[in-house]
Amino acid sequence: MWEIKKTDGLPFYQAIVEHILGLIKNGELLPGEKLPAERKLADMLGVNRSTVVHALEELEAMGWLLRKQGSGSFVAEGKWGITSTARTDWRRYLEQNAFSKTEPFIEQMKQLLTKENNEVLDLYTGELPLELIPAFDLPSLTWKQFLEEEQQDEFGYQGLRTAVSRMIKQQYGFLVPEESLLITSGAQQALFLILQVLLTSGDSVAIEDPSFLYDLPIFQAAGIRLYGVPMDEDGIELSALEQVIRQHRVKMVMVNPSFQNPTGKVMSLKRRQALVELCQSYQIPILEDDVFGQISEVSGSQIPPLKKLDPENVLYIGSLSKILGSTTKIGWLSAPPSVNRQIAEARKIMDFSLSIFPQLLAAIALNDPAFDNRLSELKKELKKRENNVYRIMKEQPHWQVERPQGGFYLWATFKRGKLSQKEWQFFLKEGLLVAPSFLFGESRESIRINFSRVSEAQLPDFQRKIATVTEKIVANRTANI
Ligand SMILES: Cc1ncc(COP(=O)(O)O)c(C=O)c1O
Repeated sequence: MWEIKKTDGLPFYQAIVEHILGLIKNGELLPGEKLPAERKLADMLGVNRSTVVHALEELEAMGWLLRKQGSGSFVAEGKWGITSTARTDWRRYLEQNAFSKTEPFIEQMKQLLTKENNEVLDLYTGELPLELIPAFDLPSLTWKQFLEEEQQDEFGYQGLRTAVSRMIKQQYGFLVPEESLLITSGAQQALFLILQVLLTSGDSVAIEDPSFLYDLPIFQAAGIRLYGVPMDEDGIELSALEQVIRQHRVKMVMVNPSFQNPTGKVMSLKRRQALVELCQSYQIPILEDDVFGQISEVSGSQIPPLKKLDPENVLYIGSLSKILGSTTKIGWLSAPPSVNRQIAEARKIMDFSLSIFPQLLAAIALNDPAFDNRLSELKKELKKRENNVYRIMKEQPHWQVERPQGGFYLWATFKRGKLSQKEWQFFLKEGLLVAPSFLFGESRESIRINFSRVSEAQLPDFQRKIATVTEKIVANRTANI
């Protein structure tokens, strides 16, 4: 009963797990039955006790064994009576789940955020703080009025598409025809649909390095390979991009040219034109993510969207998340009509249709006569906060910072090179939560600060926290020399 053969490529503890599972499933070990003591089992199998313990722990976590301190391991008895029916080993399925992989550092941050903790300054979260989100009055609508508006097609609520098209026209002076617009449940759904419809597992996509896309599990889950391309002060470097395109047979280039997440960079007009030309010449579509478009300090004509430069080859996505909060869950995609139709169709098949409620409310907000004023007030406040945080960071001799021109991220790089695990912990100890650069690529020396979350009253706290963290890092370096 306790003879187990070694199998090539399978760690021995797993072989023990399989063996015991087999014994339970074919009834040789019965519910409630005691297993031999760990030491005895180790002797019988000719392995270390730790290997046996590892296997028993695994079986316990799977729910097949109960381990009681001092009395040993027992086959579990089902709650509804004794059962030896085989059960699905969900853990094995979940091992491949790309959505479950979270950075331990981010887990630690999230734990700090869930505690009622006034000591923590959250400049990590990628959203406006609640107090900055413009407030719009809701008209009193009857249920029937909502239902009447429900007459939407698969592209989304017509009234919202009109409002979005008008907003883009007003901002950039170019028309995104309503028939090319698809309303999505946030920009992320637009991205997800593009991956599903236009790409397949094994395809390569070029992105900026660093990029928030690096952090999204949807690429890994879809089997898409991401290749990072460095940026300079004008945006994505084209010679490096061309090399990646040639080397990896890139299927799509995905960029966030305005107020890039995480660096806050703005791609220059010249670079935009050259990027569009390069991709045209290789016949590779560009996905332009313009979720920060509405909170720009630069006029729309100075930095036209890539979509305006090349409407045919650019897929354009936007969102209300960065101005009205991500719970709004309203985004949009503009693609050539034939592509748009296919994407809308795919969404319908996946049954991801949108509810009329958020769409109608978003249309009401965008059509509110006060919308433009509220947006200008928001931009003014963002500018103030950006100046304050930028000034404080600029005074820090150890950090290199660029002044943003919109959005709400400030990217700061530690001048003395990459931060060690221990040094990243100083941020958590000080309660200064920022997004570490390793979320967005390979680099480990920069931080993304969401400056919109630092109110006037919080400035001294921010200043003290960043100074203390920096002092600790510098002291750690000196101690290690
Ligand atoms: C650059 C960028 N694109 C897309 C998204 C996703 O936006 P949404 O909340 O609309 O799904 C985010 C959210 O953080 C973002 O920063």
